[in-house]
Amino acid sequence: MNEKVTAILSKMTLEEKISLCNGADFWHSKAMEQYGIPAITMSDGPHGVRCQKNGADMLGVNESEPATCFPTAVTSGATWDAALLEAEGRAIGEEGLSYGVDVVLGPGVNIKRNPLCGRNFEYFSEDPCVAGAMGTAWVQGVQSSGAGTSLKHFAANNQEYKRFNGNSQVDQRTMRELYLPAFEAVVKNAQPETVMCSYPRINNVHASDNTWLLTEVLRRDWGFEGLVVTDWGALCDRVKAMHAGCDLSMPGGSNYMEDWVAAAVKDGSLPESDVDACAARVIALALKGESRPKGHAFDKDAHNALAQKIAENGAVLLKNEGGILPLDAGDIALIGEMARTMRYQGAGSSHINATKLTTLCDALPGVPFAAGCDVKGAVTEESLREAAETARKAKIAVVCAGLPDIYESEGFDRETMAMPEGHNRLIETVAAANPNTVVVLFCGCAVETPWLDKVKAVLYMGLPGQAGGAAAANLLTGKANPCGKLTETWPLCYDDVPSRDTFGKKVTHYKEGLYVGYRYYDKAGKAVRFPFGYGLSYTQFAYTDLKIEGRTVTVTVTNNGTAAGAEVVQLYVAPPQNGLYRPAKELKAFAKAALQPGESKTLTFTLDDRSFAVWCDGGWKVPMGSYEVLVGASSADIRLRGTLAVDGVSLAAPDWQKGSWYETLQGLPTDADFEALYGAPLQSDPPLKKGSFTMEDSSMEMKDLSPIMMQMFKGTESTIAKSFGGKADYGDPTFKMMVMSGADAPLRAAVLSSCGAFPANLAEGMLAMANGHPLNGVKKLIKK
Ligand code: BGC
Repeated sequence: MNEKVTAILSKMTLEEKISLCNGADFWHSKAMEQYGIPAITMSDGPHGVRCQKNGADMLGVNESEPATCFPTAVTSGATWDAALLEAEGRAIGEEGLSYGVDVVLGPGVNIKRNPLCGRNFEYFSEDPCVAGAMGTAWVQGVQSSGAGTSLKHFAANNQEYKRFNGNSQVDQRTMRELYLPAFEAVVKNAQPETVMCSYPRINNVHASDNTWLLTEVLRRDWGFEGLVVTDWGALCDRVKAMHAGCDLSMPGGSNYMEDWVAAAVKDGSLPESDVDACAARVIALALKGESRPKGHAFDKDAHNALAQKIAENGAVLLKNEGGILPLDAGDIALIGEMARTMRYQGAGSSHINATKLTTLCDALPGVPFAAGCDVKGAVTEESLREAAETARKAKIAVVCAGLPDIYESEGFDRETMAMPEGHNRLIETVAAANPNTVVVLFCGCAVETPWLDKVKAVLYMGLPGQAGGAAAANLLTGKANPCGKLTETWPLCYDDVPSRDTFGKKVTHYKEGLYVGYRYYDKAGKAVRFPFGYGLSYTQFAYTDLKIEGRTVTVTVTNNGTAAGAEVVQLYVAPPQNGLYRPAKELKAFAKAALQPGESKTLTFTLDDRSFAVWCDGGWKVPMGSYEVLVGASSADIRLRGTLAVDGVSLAAPDWQKGSWYETLQGLPTDADFEALYGAPLQSDPPLKKGSFTMEDSSMEMKDLSPIMMQMFKGTESTIAKSFGGKADYGDPTFKMMVMSGADAPLRAAVLSSCGAFPANLAEGMLAMANGHPLNGVKKLIKK
């Protein structure tokens, strides 16, 4: 602890220290002028600054200050280009500082466990090596500007359903090898100023209260030096959270649970040193604010150009039959409402008020256009007829489609991997009218593509940010050469996803263990639509001269086509399969090489113990044996192979493993398989019952069992509906997101996120009444 912090701390009362660890309002921590402690200003988010001067909210509903909307992580991650992510981070940091922001809340490095997670667009990858590298570069970029970051959502927050009070049951090995390493890499390589703990319980303990997660793993094992802030409303129990090392509860404005902490210190159940440690970290971060270079204007045009460059580098060319792309803009028609009303970012807390917007229609003025569908993706016979007619007249028909807002958002998960029926019909209709049909997809995650064989080319833009249309135009016309690669597998259909029966439950058993994404499809031998790491280019690359010397691997990549381009070279390690169960191969390193036609580059990768290690019996162990080193252009396109003898320990497979799903990957893992892997029974929540409702239950959950909770639910619903013309419209993504985040938040979280507007005694009083204790309820209601 530095001297200044210690001196301040020594003057503060216990109550002041506790109070400092609760924020002041939606975006600020408390200033305590008497001690010279300034407030910390925070703002979302991961692909641009959402700085709200008025009307703060955590769902991006109210307007924020204009900021560059960079491509979301689905697109920026697909660049596999750390230098670009660093540049993006620096620009976001500068924009944040220009608005007086100390800490920008990002990046999100959660693993994409299942394609239906509503927030996948905000996350980089199904693979921790990519997510860790992209997150590290972003944090380094932001922090090089002088602003701070918040690495989120730590941890095991892989779905939106019941995000506030769900429970992720994950075995230790899977945690350490799959869900934690991206966080670990960012912490060790970039020291983010803060880490944001996630909402759900992890193995039954809320992230905020989780000493194992926040102290043992984050601080002890990884050496994290910064502050842990809660996700907004994620604090579960202030006493346990203080002990766990959860420093700052946000948003502020409520003093809920502060008296519990004071009482716990007084009765000796919580050492005051725990409170001191948390308060000291808040003070230290607040003091940093004094030296941040705040208030300078930022260069909007330069940042818009950078956003475009990232979108160009992160778009993935999925198909290009007969080299139909690049095309001549004079030959085409643009079809699909998304060409004009582009989906370029996701809904929720990451939502940016863009400084500028360029759609494909803007970028290619004068090109014939037919909407073909409405903004929600609905078609009519007339709209399809018009689209077909426009397509027929053009040499090449370019259809823009994907996922409209209502299909994909923070706050709820997707119901299906399908695109809107209207978009599928539009593509099929256009493809029937014009054999030269090209699809440009705008969506934040993998979708089913039943029409793939009928179209000539597919360009996947992800959610490409404010300059996405300009980027798409450059890619289609060859001014830019596609060089992005998928950071997640696109399965043929949702039925192929190994977590399909456990995803989206309140208690989620991560039964598939390590077998997420390509780790599963590869070993199970299941065909996929597009493999992890896949992406085409307008040129070709040759791989030669694989050399393995010790732990150093070199390979030469040559552009042997006619266009300048860039290739993402991927290095996978295939471990021996004769002991503890392991994926067939795992990504351990990658590099992107920009090459002129005819140019070659030799790339060097360095492996270390962790490249071969497994988490076993509480530590990292390297199983000895012969490992294959695979270098390729995607997880399914391995160009060169070599072997490496690795010294280590002999790890026999545990008895339960023999014949279990983790060896066979046949069908789905059973409860018994998972219990054997986890080493304890499946966790479950007791059924909801009047009389035993708690602050952990939401009004939405309790409403059918309690009239008073029904009233509370209806009240929340109709208050939200007021901003939507009085109508409870679940077809409106913003409305749906607000209801799911309000009425389905446990009462505890509803109190905290209301910034004082919904006081704890009101929630507790209504809860007592719902539990059948009206007198007790009234007492609480009138309590001060
Ligand atoms: C989100 C966070 C976000 C916070 C503040 C939460 O609902 O999960 O990612 O940073 O709100 O807006």
